[in-house]
Amino acid sequence: MAELGEEIIRLENVYKIFGPQPRGRAFDLAKSGLGKDAVLRQSGHVLGLNDVSFSVNRGEIFVVMGLSGSGKSTAIRTVNKLHDVTSGHVWVDGVDVQTLKGTDLQAFRRVKMGMVFQHFALFPHRNVIDNAGYGLKVQKVPKAERDVASLKALSLVGLEPYANNATQELSGGMQQRVGLARALASDPDILLMDEAFSALDPLIRRQMQDELMVIQKELQKTILFITHDLNEALRIGDRVCIMKDGAVVQIGTPEEILTQPATGYVAEFVQDVDQGRVIEVQEVMITPGPIKASMSLGDALHSLGDRAGAFVVDDQGRPTHVFTVNDGIQASDLSSALRTDFEQCGPHATLNEVYAAAGRGIPIAVVDDDGKLIGNLDPRHIMEEMGRVEQLIDGFEREVFM
Ligand SMILES: Nc1ncnc2c1ncn2[C@@H]1O[C@H](COP(=O)(O)OP(=O)(O)O)[C@@H](O)[C@H]1O
Ligand SMILES: [Mg+2]
Repeated sequence: MAELGEEIIRLENVYKIFGPQPRGRAFDLAKSGLGKDAVLRQSGHVLGLNDVSFSVNRGEIFVVMGLSGSGKSTAIRTVNKLHDVTSGHVWVDGVDVQTLKGTDLQAFRRVKMGMVFQHFALFPHRNVIDNAGYGLKVQKVPKAERDVASLKALSLVGLEPYANNATQELSGGMQQRVGLARALASDPDILLMDEAFSALDPLIRRQMQDELMVIQKELQKTILFITHDLNEALRIGDRVCIMKDGAVVQIGTPEEILTQPATGYVAEFVQDVDQGRVIEVQEVMITPGPIKASMSLGDALHSLGDRAGAFVVDDQGRPTHVFTVNDGIQASDLSSALRTDFEQCGPHATLNEVYAAAGRGIPIAVVDDDGKLIGNLDPRHIMEEMGRVEQLIDGFEREVFM
């Protein structure tokens, strides 16, 4: 039995060139390091994929993100061999996909992967259950058996009650759910999703993202998800691969992409993103270093160092009071400087969730499930973290223009 977390899909130095002679001069130019524009100018060929390598681990949501034309669809289509590659290798579960042909290829696609596209590709006049079971029908699974599988898949996407409705009666979001149910019905290891939610209204889209994440957790599918929307990528991706002009620019966790953009191009993308949503409190908090209520005011101030404040904890380690520099310098003794009106949160809260509380300028207590103090969250650090990307972009601009 294959294990969660091990590699299941790998693209290895993949080139895909569109044009009459993909392995001719265009390929030589690409190999010599020329980019998409230059290859097009000098050879009239389109460099769809330019030395693309990435691997997807079993059980993760791996998102390929880039602007229109950056090569996302081309990349996903090499995985189920809807495209041949010009050079390089594509491995799926240890199989070199390029070697598959005919019925072997069909069987491989059927068993290993389900696909969901932006356009629903449903039969409007057939009912929901038959649309969900269409892939199984192609596989010649008997009707009774495929209805059981279809109903199970429909229940995963919340559409079981609509099983016998005509598909054309459903809203866009519901139709896309049917598409997802169809991909899930044959219970494949891998879901390939190309801009699957891109045509949906923002609210419905977020709901679908949430549901997909729940389904993925429950069934532990591997999902290769394509989007042109960085917010979507960062929201649902365990890891995100950013593409530009057919090449990979950066691969990383959402946090890495946000806090360490590899190039000015990524940084520019990132500046449009609402940082606080994905950065967790635990990444910004400092070790608690509580003070004792019995200290003198001077010692307490001294022990703060450059911290904005520190907490007093009870004998269970739970925070009871906070002592801030601002209160300390105006007080005559420690006890009159202690306050109880501080906020607390868990380590997985996002910066966005604590942003309003941080506005009061008082440190926030980070506590574990038992209410024990595990971190001290300085409002300045939240503001700094949220401003970091702007600084990075300024830095890149200076490098480029000076
Ligand atoms: N069948 C094709 N023939 C010629 N060019 C293609 C073909 N398919 C894609 N391309 C080109 O390859 C590049 C990547 O396209 P695509 O992978 O569809 O981008 P994305 O999905 O990121 O929008 C684009 O420049 C596109 O015009
Ligand atoms: Mg596309």
